Amino acid sequence: MMTEKIARDLAGKLCDFSHEKVSFDCFDLEDKTVKLGFDESDVVVIGTPVYMGKIPLPAAKAIHGLKGNDVMTLVSVSYGGRSYGNALFELQHCAEDSGFKVIGAGAFMVFCKALLKERKFKAPAIDVAALIDFEEAASSKIKRLSGSEVKALKIKPAPVEAPGHMPIHRVSRYSTVAAATAQRVCEMLSMRKSRSEWFL
Ligand SMILES: Cc1cc2nc3c(=O)[nH]c(=O)nc-3n(C[C@H](O)[C@H](O)[C@H](O)COP(=O)(O)O)c2cc1C
Repeated sequence: MMTEKIARDLAGKLCDFSHEKVSFDCFDLEDKTVKLGFDESDVVVIGTPVYMGKIPLPAAKAIHGLKGNDVMTLVSVSYGGRSYGNALFELQHCAEDSGFKVIGAGAFMVFCKALLKERKFKAPAIDVAALIDFEEAASSKIKRLSGSEVKALKIKPAPVEAPGHMPIHRVSRYSTVAAATAQRVCEMLSMRKSRSEWFL
């Protein structure tokens, strides 16, 4: 939902800038029937949830199997409001290792039960206000970076600095029961209310 929203909204924003039609497609990283390939006219958005402060191992594996071809890429994680730990850093580096040029990174909070009550939402909801700010800033950056047709004149972006540390550790697969229990614990702990953050 988060990744699709970012991709759809960006396509809308970049339409005003491009002479050609801007469209977007969504793919499940775990869908092995899809063969993904990218060229320089693409902008990629990669999103994963945060499990125990990390990105899920199947997502990390799937990203390692992709060839980024230096395309402009935004990475994003959704998390339960406790802490996104090393996940955003891990996702950025995972994408860069596979050849994606990461130009923006965001961690967006999902309001879970405890927070929903307080904020009077009816269903789990992502921090849309932060997402919209990120999309606006990211689309301006994409426009700036793609300003020139001449490769040598293209602006080189400064590296994105998502907080985190090396080494990026391995994550084990969680059983469904363990995942559900962890989710409940996270929802209880999410009373701490950390904030969505993004970096460009
Ligand atoms: C196994 C598991 C571990 C989680 N670990 C964290 C965590 O470390 N920090 C956090 O803030 N939220 C944590 N959460 C909450 C999820 O990050 C959040 O609900 C996420 O948006 C779920 O996305 P999904 O519905 O696509 O799985 C965890 C949830 C599960 C199921």
